[in-house]
Amino acid sequence: MKQATSRIHIAILGSGKGSNAHAIINAAKTNDVAYEVSVIITTRPDSGIAEVGRGQGIPVEVLSADTAENGDQITRIADDYSIELLVLSGFMRMLPTSVIQHLHGQVINIHPALLPAYGGKGMYGRKVHQAVLNAGETVTGVTIHWVTEEYDAGAIIVQETIDILGLRTAEEIEGRVKSVEHSLYPRVINEMALRLEESKN
Ligand code: GRF
Repeated sequence: MKQATSRIHIAILGSGKGSNAHAIINAAKTNDVAYEVSVIITTRPDSGIAEVGRGQGIPVEVLSADTAENGDQITRIADDYSIELLVLSGFMRMLPTSVIQHLHGQVINIHPALLPAYGGKGMYGRKVHQAVLNAGETVTGVTIHWVTEEYDAGAIIVQETIDILGLRTAEEIEGRVKSVEHSLYPRVINEMALRLEESKN
């Protein structure tokens, strides 16, 4: 991996368990990684992702319940921590367009299926895996994509296919998908950080 000169500041935005945040933070603990996790942004102070942040000594910012305020809040946090890449993982609200514009489109998300299949409004978490199971699929996957003002509709950056033949529950599928997410997401974030770094030189 190429040695980075200065690390790109990223923020992770989520409402769930925070297992991806944990993997992204852990991956940044070696010297040859081009990003650092500067802040965790969440919707609940008691969420798993908030606990991951606190446990790792990373600042945690909590958004207000009034979603109309979230756009201004996130852009202020992004400025305070000099954020250049916003990473979504399990964020359960619509991201205001003002945030995407403020960050010059540098906002990515991870989805636990092969988009455009099993995506869109209402398709999140276990629901995705249950729908995949109900349809009798033998493969599913992970999609990392750019975030736009429409749910799960931004251009795809990378997809990885996962064999789920023989898995019998949504929980089992989720476990297999998450283990792929935990290696894929840090790798892609690092590549994007390197590219951002290079674009400055
Ligand atoms: C992940 O499965 C991701 O694909 C989806 O939400 C889940 C977040 O999980 N968007 P975690 O909070 O990172 O454990």
